[in-house]
Amino acid sequence: MSKNILITGSTDGIGKLAAIKLAKEEHTIFVHGRNKEKLEKVIEEIKTASKNENISGFVADFSDLKAVQQMALEIKESIGKIDVLINNAGVFKSSKTNNEAGFDLRFVVNYFAPYVLTNELISVLEKGENPRLINLSSAAQSPVNYDALNGKIDLGEQMTYAQSKLALTMWSFDLAKKLKNINVIAVNPGSLLNTRMVQEAYGRFWSSADKGANILYELAISEKHEGITGKYFDNDNGAYGNAHPSAYDEKAISKLIEATEKIIA
Ligand SMILES: NC(=O)c1ccc[n+]([C@@H]2O[C@H](COP(=O)([O-])OP(=O)(O)OC[C@H]3O[C@@H](n4cnc5c(N)ncnc54)[C@H](OP(=O)(O)O)[C@@H]3O)[C@@H](O)[C@H]2O)c1
Repeated sequence: MSKNILITGSTDGIGKLAAIKLAKEEHTIFVHGRNKEKLEKVIEEIKTASKNENISGFVADFSDLKAVQQMALEIKESIGKIDVLINNAGVFKSSKTNNEAGFDLRFVVNYFAPYVLTNELISVLEKGENPRLINLSSAAQSPVNYDALNGKIDLGEQMTYAQSKLALTMWSFDLAKKLKNINVIAVNPGSLLNTRMVQEAYGRFWSSADKGANILYELAISEKHEGITGKYFDNDNGAYGNAHPSAYDEKAISKLIEATEKIIA
């Protein structure tokens, strides 16, 4: 059965490759990017590659949480239901460290933006068929420094990236407990996949970008993953595994969610 699938950050990297793979299976794909021209080009590229016309998209710069909220509003007005949401947009290196509001871009794009988008879209996801939420974590996970989360100190991109990914994983597990009808999985798509993010950060790679796209495709639609929630899929090992210990620490999770709600408000 054809599914409605929204993939954030699908104008490049593993998000774009996953969008093409899923489009080839005749699913309706909603692409997202921060640049309108690039988004339109990618939509045409996906249509051509998949021979599927049911491809459209949304524009929002995820470094601006108001833009994320605006995008959520547009989605709620135009899409009746979402079966799969893949929170894939992410940043490692960036020319600017902080957004206009003074928060580190890695925390904003990799954690606050999917947090805001998902919470706004829960009602649309709940209308989906066995809905799945897939959050892009990483093997790089590090406990959150609250001064860094609040934009008071700059710890450098490597550290804030790892902290943003643990924050996203902790929130994913918390959400899985709260949402009875939506399955939530955090995934490390594989380390040092051959994408622009990795080339900019390290100038080398360990695996093809397809490795990451393939696991996003599987987690989105495969029966193998049906009914699984609150878990971490580690694609470096090709299996469910353990996230950082803090992701299972109820107290640490409560503290994080409280701080997140304050910042977002
Ligand atoms: N590659 C890896 O080895 C690896 C490993 C672990 C986890 N991950 C995670 O996997 C996800 C995808 O990574 P990738 O390697 O495919 O990276 P990528 O090729 O750099 O693609 C990142 C995507 O996110 C979008 N994006 C970046 N900043 C944005 C912003 N401010 N607003 C809206 N969209 C924005 C990009 O849009 P533009 O096209 O406009 O740049 C692009 O579509 C990320 O969450 C990353 O952290 C990747």
